[in-house]
Amino acid sequence: MAAMMHAIVTGGSSGIGYAIVRQLLGDGYRVTVIALGDAALSALADSESSRSGDLRTEPADVSDPFAVERAVQRAVADGGRCDLLVTSAGIGGAGRFLELGNTEFERHMTVNYLGTLYPVRAVAPSMMERRAGTIVLISSFAALLGVYGYSAYAPPKYAVRGLAETLRTELRPHGIHVACAFPSDVDTPMLAAAHATMPPETRAIAGSAGRHSPERAAAAILRGVRRGKSRIFCDRRSAVLARFIELAPAIVRFLVDRKVRKVAASTAEAKR
Ligand SMILES: NC(=O)c1ccc[n+]([C@@H]2O[C@H](COP(=O)([O-])OP(=O)(O)OC[C@H]3O[C@@H](n4cnc5c(N)ncnc54)[C@H](OP(=O)(O)O)[C@@H]3O)[C@@H](O)[C@H]2O)c1
Repeated sequence: MAAMMHAIVTGGSSGIGYAIVRQLLGDGYRVTVIALGDAALSALADSESSRSGDLRTEPADVSDPFAVERAVQRAVADGGRCDLLVTSAGIGGAGRFLELGNTEFERHMTVNYLGTLYPVRAVAPSMMERRAGTIVLISSFAALLGVYGYSAYAPPKYAVRGLAETLRTELRPHGIHVACAFPSDVDTPMLAAAHATMPPETRAIAGSAGRHSPERAAAAILRGVRRGKSRIFCDRRSAVLARFIELAPAIVRFLVDRKVRKVAASTAEAKR
């Protein structure tokens, strides 16, 4: 009998990561979720899938390299070699550049970039040894164009995109497939919380590539993985927009700046 495939999903206790976990379990994977040890992770640990042994939970902060290394070691010891890593753990939030504190920038870089890098470093050696494995990094559509109000959130997402591009070519000769996903707005607790912090200009621009359910985003990401894509968009509209951004960046900047000006003007008008 063929061995069960084992996936490790960081941030699998909520939102996009959780939807990916549900779909992987449905596809017959054994899944380990690494996330902060809070109520959401405890609920997963109490679930039917967990009782049947298909799902394991490992509480760890992805921005702590030692905690991540230990969590991955335990996951592999209990669940078997890691065939698929999905890094979905992350934090959101928006705000105007000068209104954000230094700690915000540090937190975003630490969780969203290093918290992506550390799990990859923890699984890559054994994947290289076996010359097999898939790594999927969740970046964001905000890593494809400048979005007003995302000066803390977006740069680490650009860094994740850069990491994915670099690893794609470096790990490919070792039999490892690296993909990067660029979701636009997805209805998750993160987006709901981020909305509360968004300046009106950010609200007007964010979401122009469309908004989806986590299930739809997860299905698109896993379909992209099955098809061996290295860049994954969650719908056709985002894919077309991404192409347009590449082909006509000056036009995109013009349109974005015009939208920002319009929102700023109507906000000033409303204040009068
Ligand atoms: N939602 C969107 O519109 C959107 C758009 C583009 C890209 N993305 C990206 O998609 C990914 C998932 O986002 P989501 O919307 O699904 O968010 P979410 O519902 O808030 O889920 C985030 C997950 O990450 C975990 N997490 C956060 N900080 C962590 C840490 N330091 N260590 C370990 N786990 C941590 C959370 O655990 P706790 O619940 O325990 O905190 C949760 O499981 C993120 O990388 C996000 O940037 C989201």
